[in-house]
Amino acid sequence: MTLRVNGAEYALEIDHRVTLLDALRDHLGLTGAKKGCDHGQCGACTVLLDGRRVCGCLLLAVAQDGADITTVEGLSATTTGAELQRAFAARDAFQCGFCTPGQLCSAVGALAEAAADPDGPLTLTEQETRERLSGNLCRCGAYPAIVRAVLDVAR
Ligand code: FES
Ligand code: FES
Repeated sequence: MTLRVNGAEYALEIDHRVTLLDALRDHLGLTGAKKGCDHGQCGACTVLLDGRRVCGCLLLAVAQDGADITTVEGLSATTTGAELQRAFAARDAFQCGFCTPGQLCSAVGALAEAAADPDGPLTLTEQETRERLSGNLCRCGAYPAIVRAVLDVAR
């Protein structure tokens, strides 16, 4: 199978049971996306698949043949991703950092979804931002700073 990850093309020969997350981490050495629960519950493994945020632990890699993936390692090459990284640093939006790659990828997806809302571009409120990032858990409780960072970029 092939995967395009952060702009580079990779040919992979992998067991059909390997998840997208394990393919990225164990086969491509991209360990930015984290394995928190491996059950679709924490969001630590969030990456962008053809621009949409997904949990890498819930998808089989072979089913994504030919897909375009962006991981946290590729975010600094994108305008929104780089702005979010700066905002997270400025707002001190992390403690241990384990959830941060997923939070960043999820925030990129959330901002894109808000901009492309069927009823017209959505102005993100604090409440709306919290709801849209609710699939990404942070055991350190950095939520207030994460939301402030995302709103900085949204504005
Ligand atoms: Fe995928 Fe937790 S590791 S959602
Ligand atoms: Fe530690 Fe979020 S910064 S889990």
